[in-house]
Amino acid sequence: MKLRPNVLPLLILLLGLLLTVLTAWQLERTDAERSEARFNALAERARKSVEATYQLKLALLRGTAGLFNASGRVTGAEFRSFVERLRLAQSYQGTLGIGFAAYAPTKREIEARIAEAGSPPGQTVRHWPEGERDSYSAILYIEPLNRRNRAALGFDMMSEATRREAMLRSRVNGQSAMSGRVLLVQEIEKFKQPGFLIYAPLTPGGSIAASSFPGWVYTPLRGPDLFGPLFKGAEFEHVHVSIFDGEPRPGNLLFASPVPAARQGQSRSQQLELGGRKLTIRLAAAPGFQGSSPTRLWPFVLLAGTAISLLAAALAWQAEQVVGRVHDQVRRRTAQLNRSNARLREEIAARSQAEEQLFQAQKMEAVGQLTGGIAHDFNNMLAVVIGSLDFARHTDDVARLKRLIEQALKGATKAAELTQRLLAFSRRQTLVPTVVDANTLVAEMSELLHRTIGGAIRLETVLAGGLWRVFADPAQLESAILNLAVNARDAMPDGGQLTIETANCDLASDHAGASPDIAAGQYVLIAIGDTGHGMAPDVQARVLEPFFTTKEVGKGTGLGLPQVFGFVKQSGGHLKIYSEVGRGTTVRIYLPRYRGPDADVPAASSGQLETLPRGRPDELILAVEDEEHVRLMSVGALRELGYTVIHASNGAAALRCLHEHPGTRLVFTDVVMPEMDGVELAAAIREHYPEVRLLFTTGYARNAMTRDGRLKDEVELISKPFTIAQLAGKIRQVLDRTP
Ligand SMILES: Nc1ncnc2c1ncn2[C@@H]1O[C@H](COP(=O)(O)OP(=O)(O)OP(=O)(O)O)[C@@H](O)[C@H]1O
Ligand SMILES: [Mg+2]
Repeated sequence: MKLRPNVLPLLILLLGLLLTVLTAWQLERTDAERSEARFNALAERARKSVEATYQLKLALLRGTAGLFNASGRVTGAEFRSFVERLRLAQSYQGTLGIGFAAYAPTKREIEARIAEAGSPPGQTVRHWPEGERDSYSAILYIEPLNRRNRAALGFDMMSEATRREAMLRSRVNGQSAMSGRVLLVQEIEKFKQPGFLIYAPLTPGGSIAASSFPGWVYTPLRGPDLFGPLFKGAEFEHVHVSIFDGEPRPGNLLFASPVPAARQGQSRSQQLELGGRKLTIRLAAAPGFQGSSPTRLWPFVLLAGTAISLLAAALAWQAEQVVGRVHDQVRRRTAQLNRSNARLREEIAARSQAEEQLFQAQKMEAVGQLTGGIAHDFNNMLAVVIGSLDFARHTDDVARLKRLIEQALKGATKAAELTQRLLAFSRRQTLVPTVVDANTLVAEMSELLHRTIGGAIRLETVLAGGLWRVFADPAQLESAILNLAVNARDAMPDGGQLTIETANCDLASDHAGASPDIAAGQYVLIAIGDTGHGMAPDVQARVLEPFFTTKEVGKGTGLGLPQVFGFVKQSGGHLKIYSEVGRGTTVRIYLPRYRGPDADVPAASSGQLETLPRGRPDELILAVEDEEHVRLMSVGALRELGYTVIHASNGAAALRCLHEHPGTRLVFTDVVMPEMDGVELAAAIREHYPEVRLLFTTGYARNAMTRDGRLKDEVELISKPFTIAQLAGKIRQVLDRTP
């Protein structure tokens, strides 16, 4: 999978942060739980301390009440010494003192009690405040009798609703009672504290008869002085504690610790019943409460986790950068490679274009050379023909006329030979191959060869025994050997040796593969070697080009070797030339071995018109030829030979003639004609007139008549131009053939 750049580092960062936050959250929750537990424990402790403090005061009161209950009447001096022994200041912090308040149903009686108790020295105790009530009380004793407490002597606490409620409750149920929040009468200084009182009813002799109820011992308590010390310790350092009389409202506040509560944080209120009143103790966490916990791990985890996530993301980012750089490099290299590939392709294209142009130029040069050569040679021969005929036109001398015509005929024949050689070179001459024994052919040529090479050159023939036969045109093979012999002679102006050698040869082993155009197989070798001047490599490279010659003008046309080469190739063979300057040249002709049965073909005969094989008038021949001159020439020649001749200029006309002349023996037809050609005409004749014999003629054999340049087996053909003798022989041969 391929991510977009920077996505992986981002993912890692997000995942890391998420894990960190989760872990921190988990830890924080544990922390919170722990701090909650701690908070709860503190609240519990606060409650217990408040309760214990109250119980301590209560115990003090009970002890004092016991004094009164036991002795019935307690004097002021007895009370003082009792309280002094309690050492209030040291043991009972927050207590302003312990007092005795008498009870009386009437004002008169209460004033009698005040008088009975007597006043402390330097002070007259009087009942206050004034006013009529259904029952009365007065503080008779209060110790220690300091300035604050002196102010309280004679005060009728039942005149004030809060105190009265607690006093009556205590009197009715005989239990100690706590008052609601009051401002104590002892608060004579500028800074006043909220306070409350605890009353313990006196029950002399265990009775609580209403008529004889003596009163209460009580203790006035200042809230802050009483509770403050409870919450001064280190554990309450980060906790705000407040204590309310009843519901937690500002007007009910008895005590509030100086530590300010946090705006948000844990808080807990619990109710506590003391002396018949409900107190509310409220705890609220102050800022730093959680921080004071010794095991707060989550901030560290958050910090460390964030750091690790950032680090991992950074590493991933860097790795990605490296990978990206590698990718970039690969991309750049690929692009470079593509560019150089494109350049290479362009160069190849340019090169092949240049090669194409070069090839084209060479081809044009070759064509130019060829056409130039042809034009040159033809012009020479035509000059002879035209010149001779022109002279002939103006002479009356019969002997001279004959000579001129002879000369013209020679020129024309040379021209015909030239075209034959050209056809041979271009491998388009019509070959009439037969089964040939090269040994016999060479042996029969020896007379001709001797005459050709002259006396200065020795001729040696080395003919292999058991030589395979070849399937080739014997006349063309003869002409090839003669050509090579003439070249050899020309290379040995001072004499030498010409060797003609034949051999069986298996090209599979030594030659095949060396040159791709040579097919492996069995061949008959005919080698013509000389001891002449040889060829330089640059000459050797060009000898197969038509019209390439080193001979002086008039001596060579440069068509000899090309003609031999064309013939050999057309016959399915190969030509090899070995030459060394100063030592000689050997030309090797390889012709494929023939493996079929023997076939005898009569050699073309020659002779005078009178001695030629002749026709009879009852032998009707149809001549078909689109070219008028040629047609008239053929018709004339055939009539000369004694045949009856009809003629047509195209295929359709020929078929009409045949229809009109049922006795036609032979159709002599050209191959290349417009519309219906010779092959199509032949097919029609075979179908409708199977007994009619056929003879084709053509000047150009590259067409449907031949297969691989050879005649189809069943087709009889005579090549243009032909002599009358050749025509006579061929016609007779076709007519006399047994069907
Ligand atoms: N046996 C040989 N020894 C040395 N050079 C030769 C030999 N055969 C051919 N050549 C060289 O090859 C050239 C071409 O030979 P080719 O037979 O094609 O033409 P030509 O002999 O010059 O003319 P043509 O044969 O048409 O009369 C010759 O001009 C000659 O230079
Ligand atoms: Mg030659």
